[in-house]
Amino acid sequence: MKTSGTGPDTKSAEPLDRAVVFLGPPGAGKGTQAKELARKYGVPHLSTGDMLRENIAKCTPLGERAKPIMAHGELVPDSLVLKMVAQRIEEPDCAHGFVFDGFPRTVAQAQYLGELLKQHGYKRALVIHFAIDPSLLLKRITGRRMCKVGGEIYNIFERPPKVQDRCDNDGGELEQRPDDREEIVAPRLQAYEKQTAPLVAYYRRLGRLHDVDASQSVADVAQHVIEIVRGTRRVDPA
Ligand code: AP5
Repeated sequence: MKTSGTGPDTKSAEPLDRAVVFLGPPGAGKGTQAKELARKYGVPHLSTGDMLRENIAKCTPLGERAKPIMAHGELVPDSLVLKMVAQRIEEPDCAHGFVFDGFPRTVAQAQYLGELLKQHGYKRALVIHFAIDPSLLLKRITGRRMCKVGGEIYNIFERPPKVQDRCDNDGGELEQRPDDREEIVAPRLQAYEKQTAPLVAYYRRLGRLHDVDASQSVADVAQHVIEIVRGTRRVDPA
């Protein structure tokens, strides 16, 4: 499975040269947009969820610790996630920026990221918040299917593949994430409200949050995101 920190496929003429952070509830569309943006700029897509799932698949000590926690829809402790992220951004493919999807997720993680970026000589992260009506999330989460080979994201209700259960890009088999079962959705949303929503407030207080209406189509959200990244769109009022 091609997952964690998916490396860039091509070099972009337009440099990113910074960290972009996608923040938002489970199923808001962060992964879909992060893949697209990373592809566009030729930088890695760093999904902490994918990195943890890869560790679980490989039965590493980190994976063994994370597995039962993720199965219950709870957040993995900061101590484990921070070390994993610090190691990943030291890899050479991160030299020209990267797109974080699902990290940071707590105020402590955000503060650590700020220090880490400073240490590596990066400017401050650009933070994009996926704002969405919670009533849309259940269908997005339970309908999601991911390609076992390339990690491409589909939705059986809204974004189905051309051939059932097969990836349009590489023909890989599509699978459902274990935590996308309906009974795990509520605890995931609760963890978001309790631990990650305060981070949204934190960045907003600092005047660093760029809101995107994530209930729009994939193309419209992508357009809004690119305008924010290029600086051609102003920070929306809170
Ligand atoms: P993670 O893998 O990060 O999952 P998540 O944050 O819960 O987010 P999702 O992947 O569910 O949703 P998404 O916003 O990426 O949506 P997507 O683009 O796929 O985390 C999993 C677990 O790992 C956590 O619960 C935790 O245990 C652990 N973890 C990870 N990071 C951690 C951290 N930093 N600290 C501690 N623990 C951590 O889209 C969803 C569906 O909607 C898809 O089917 C897609 O096709 C569809 N869709 C997308 N956009 C649209 C649109 N605009 N219109 C219609 N459909 C759309």
